[in-house]
Amino acid sequence: MTDHDLVARLRRQRQGAIADHYLALDLEGQAALGADLATVDLKLLEQLVELSQIQATPPPSVIRAPSVVVKGGAKAADAYAQRLGEGMVSRGTVAAIMVAGGQGSRLGHNGPKGTFPATPVKAKPLFMVFAEKLLAANERYGVKIPWCIMTSEENHADTVAFFETHEYLGLPVDSVHFFTQGMLPAIKPNGDLVLKTPTALFRSPDGHGGTLLALRKCGLLAKLQAAGIEHLSYFQVDNPLVEVIDPVFLGHHALAQSEFSSKSVSKAGPDEKVGVFAVADGRLTVIEYSDLPEDLRNARDPRGALVYSAGSIAIHAISLEFVARITETGLDLPYHLARKKLAVVRNDGTEGTVDGIKFETFVFDALVHAEHPMVMEVARAEEFAPIKNATGQDSAASSKLLQSRLFASWIEATGQSVLRQPNGDPIVPIEIAATFADSAETLRRRKIARLNYSNPVYLGGK
Ligand code: UTP
Repeated sequence: MTDHDLVARLRRQRQGAIADHYLALDLEGQAALGADLATVDLKLLEQLVELSQIQATPPPSVIRAPSVVVKGGAKAADAYAQRLGEGMVSRGTVAAIMVAGGQGSRLGHNGPKGTFPATPVKAKPLFMVFAEKLLAANERYGVKIPWCIMTSEENHADTVAFFETHEYLGLPVDSVHFFTQGMLPAIKPNGDLVLKTPTALFRSPDGHGGTLLALRKCGLLAKLQAAGIEHLSYFQVDNPLVEVIDPVFLGHHALAQSEFSSKSVSKAGPDEKVGVFAVADGRLTVIEYSDLPEDLRNARDPRGALVYSAGSIAIHAISLEFVARITETGLDLPYHLARKKLAVVRNDGTEGTVDGIKFETFVFDALVHAEHPMVMEVARAEEFAPIKNATGQDSAASSKLLQSRLFASWIEATGQSVLRQPNGDPIVPIEIAATFADSAETLRRRKIARLNYSNPVYLGGK
């Protein structure tokens, strides 16, 4: 039956084009599209359309550089934080949370990004890299760290199937928790809703900011609270060098009584396209590269260092109580726009593209709501080797080289030399499984035999 109320509501929200399209469908088509349209939050849609009509982002208000704790900067403080962090993990108060709902369009990999072969010798999928880090942490701390994995509607089934096929990568099945992020409708530049097919709307994942609300909606927040979890160790699916559980970071997070802590790396130069931490109107925030005015981007302190140099690498420690508080009555995060060509199916069944606008929220925008937020600078070479692009910068090739370089430095720290090319890179790819050693220190304790560099070097059993 035609839903005339729906048609009237759509017209009131200036969605006349889709109302006309709906009325032109047969009853079966109307039932399908009507059910889809009924789930759209029309008030939010109005807000998104308004946002899309605003041409320029207002410049940031009065800002200053944040204070940053440097990991490795004060040995005694780090040792204290490490003991504290180790205690937090051993008492079972820390869960890992990974965002893996993105579309990975730049990488162009067929399947969830976590299934992408990422390591330099064994080409292990990203999911396996993180699972091995968790296995190592579980063993070290004598706990079963929960691993919460955020998927999207588009990759949820494939992600779960991967874990099932690979027997949860050796992790206890009941320690892995999948949950799915929300979706937001896309619009055309004139504000009309976009149809993906004649009877379904075009929607896309609501960004990594969707994590916090999705955690509550799916019931996992309550489950984690009931299990005594107090802190989330948050990371993205695309960085194989992330320290999934970093007691030094967790310890500093607790010492600062921070509700939302972040890792940063020192920007390679003023033009590196990463968001930077800054304090705006007294609140810590991340300012995107394109929103930082050129004079501030290039500003230097009296010693010649960049003032806004703390680049965000999307690694956080987040207090669970904070997540509970800010999601209690919905979550107020700003929406960011991405203007893209959207793949659609037209009325006649042919495929095509339309100019569209997608909306996303970013998890770091929750920072402004957090008390005592802390930023810790870490060494890029030790913790950051993202895989974003098919080639060039931040690609699988660049990440594998960074992984090999780090593992080479761990081998050298044991007292062995590594055969290197004239440019300093190891002569063969090197890989160390986290289950074998997850730091230079654990490798040193392993007392490995002398290595031979006639083939790629892999330490980690099979
Ligand atoms: P990116 O910004 O790199 O996006 O996500 P992406 O979708 O993976 O890749 P492109 O831009 O299409 O090439 C950073 C991290 O946030 C997660 C991603 O899975 C990745 O771990 N993410 C992003 C989500 O979980 N959901 C989203 O809606 C967006």
